[in-house]
Amino acid sequence: MEVMSPMMITRPQTIQTVISQRFSTVDLDETANILSTIGRLVGALDRDTREHCERLAEECRAFGEFLNLPTDEIYILMWGGYLHDIGKMAIPTEVLQKPGTLTAAEWEVMKQHTLIGESICAALQPLSHILPVIRHHHERWDGSGYPDGLAGNDIPDLAQIVQVLDVYDALTHPRCYKPAFSAQHALRIMLEDAAKGWYNPELIQAFLQFKAQAVLVEG
Ligand SMILES: [Fe+2]
Repeated sequence: MEVMSPMMITRPQTIQTVISQRFSTVDLDETANILSTIGRLVGALDRDTREHCERLAEECRAFGEFLNLPTDEIYILMWGGYLHDIGKMAIPTEVLQKPGTLTAAEWEVMKQHTLIGESICAALQPLSHILPVIRHHHERWDGSGYPDGLAGNDIPDLAQIVQVLDVYDALTHPRCYKPAFSAQHALRIMLEDAAKGWYNPELIQAFLQFKAQAVLVEG
């Protein structure tokens, strides 16, 4: 399985080094083209979404290591975190940056970002492993999410992980419709939503332990 790290994009000076380690010479041109394409795609996102995606790639690495996932899965997780919202580039700004509550019609438009993102990345064969993450990062454990209403373990594991990290990051950073919440406030909201059945209970417990460890490390 050949999967690249999103860090190659945020640290351009290392791109050639990493590429040469992970890809054969035959693949270099194709890989460079893909990296260039992804760089343009992410660059086309609005600033808030772009910065959110960059943070999420790093959080995916840290949480993936905390969960002792295999290296290949951590790479998929990082790419999934980096590109999960890439479909938002096709969502109208008036919907994406609306300061108030979305109407039902606007919400249907917003939901399309999962399918649009999947179709964009489907054209990049080396990223095929992250397509389920992009498509399913808004499913819910109880089946009330979108786009397919998957429930429980039918939701791909890595999509479940990206979702939890995605929600926490969204809660702890300002959005056009809300201020940044404290870590405690964010975790309280997530526990309330977990009690409604929105998240995998084991995953939420692992996430709480991950955050508790991060607080200890940060002192
Ligand atoms: Fe999303």
